[in-house]
This record gives sequence, structure tokens and C-alpha cells, in this order.
Amino acid sequence: MISVQNIDKVYRSATDNYVALEKVNLQVQEHEFLAIMGPSGSGKTTLLSIMGLIDKPTQGKVLIDGVDTSYMKERESLLVRKNKIGYIFQDFNLISELSVFENVELPLLYSDISPKERAHRVEYALQNAGIFHKRKHLPSQLSGGQQQRVAIARAIVNDPLILLADEPTGNLDSASAGDILNLLSQFNDNGKTIVMVTHCDRASMLANRIVHLFDGHLVSKAYMTTK
Ligand SMILES: Nc1ncnc2c1ncn2[C@@H]1O[C@H](COP(=O)(O)OP(=O)(O)OP(=O)(O)O)[C@@H](O)[C@H]1O
Ligand SMILES: [Mg+2]
Repeated sequence: MISVQNIDKVYRSATDNYVALEKVNLQVQEHEFLAIMGPSGSGKTTLLSIMGLIDKPTQGKVLIDGVDTSYMKERESLLVRKNKIGYIFQDFNLISELSVFENVELPLLYSDISPKERAHRVEYALQNAGIFHKRKHLPSQLSGGQQQRVAIARAIVNDPLILLADEPTGNLDSASAGDILNLLSQFNDNGKTIVMVTHCDRASMLANRIVHLFDGHLVSKAYMTTK
């Protein structure tokens, strides 16, 4: 479903170049639930955002559902992202001036669907994420766990094949974290391919497979425990 081929990511600045990822290869199968773990700064968000076509690699390719995205123009890759990928950001990325309903509606605004169908889809996503009752509130009026649910509703409103989640339980107490993890598991049971970045052992136990990043390299678990 996702094929990351020989990816490098170099952040360039006036004073230096920083290699955030080096020679990363990763295949994610359809219906898989993969966890990416690793210390802070190891490149997890960088890798996930490249898999989500939010950022471009300096070197290497990303194939989504068999299609090479490396030659795509901005518009084209945006379309792939819109149709196939739901992305849950590390810091929620909700728009503070918009209500919960409007935040979740955003990804649908430029689609070719009627306002009625749009409202129906937003309500369905809000219900699925367990946050329908707060649809008229602003993000600032919600708890962290509730904001995370809104971010999840927004990520699933397009009914994507792939759900990418960057530390979806990072800022939550353990009860809310458990609820969010159950939700992700349900989506996986219903056929979505999930890649989740996490620091949490409990979260990673839900996954079918765990990969570890260290200093921008994918490494084996044994390597990690000696560090
Ligand atoms: N836009 C950027 N410009 C320069 N360096 C960056 C940029 N974004 C990330 N980095 C650097 O790349 C490295 C990897 O960052 P990344 O955000 O992928 O780490 P992470 O594993 O997600 O960490 P965390 O667990 O803290 O979220 C870090 O050293 C970071 O400082
Ligand atoms: Mg991160």
C-alpha cells in the first residue's frame, strides 16, 4: 500500500545541512497496522510526513497504492493525498476560529459533492470518532482527548485507504489514550491501513509490526536496546 524506497531527507539551512533520514526503505502492506518508534528527533515525523505526501524526500521514492508519486506535480500529489490518505498531526493542527464541524468539513470543501452529502459525511465521521456532541464547539473549548478525536474525524472524513497518525496518544491521559487506540484498531479492523508513530509501548502493542528509527536510520530492535 505504501512503499518507501531509499529515502534521504536533508534539511538545508544557510549554515548547515542536517540529515534527518538516510537510506530508509519501508513497505507497508494493505490492512497492516504498523508502529514507528524511536527517540525524539530520530526522524519519525519527517518519515510520516513524507509517507503522507506532505513533505518531499531529498532522494528516493514513495509509491502509494502502486503509484510512484516522486514525479508528481504539487496538484497531482495533493489529489492522491486527498483521496487516499488521512493524516493525524502530532499537534492536532485544528483551526481555532472554526467550529468542530467546520474543521472536519475542511477537507471536503473543494470536492465535487453537494452540501447535503458533505454534511452527512462530516456527521458520520464525527460520530465514528465519538465527538458528534461537540460539533458546535470551538477547539479551545475541548479537552486534549476531544481535540484528538476531532483531528481523527477530519482524517477519516474522506474515507481514506490509509491513515497516518503522528503520536495520536502523545498528549493524553491513559484512559483517553486507550479510547483513541481502540478507535484506531476499529478502523484497522474495517480495512484501513494504519501507520502510527508512537513513544508508547502499550500503543505499539496494537500494531501488527513495529519498526524503529534511530538517528534517521531504520534499525533492528536489538540495536535499540544496546543504545
Ligand atoms: N524543517 C526543519 N528544518 C530543519 N531541521 C528539521 C526540520 N524538521 C525537523 N528537523 C530536524 O530533523 C530531525 C528529525 O525531526 P522529526 O520531527 O522527524 O523527529 P521526531 O522523531 O518526530 O521527534 P519527536 O519524537 O520529538 O516528535 C530533528 O533533529 C529535527 O530538529
Ligand atoms: Mg515527531
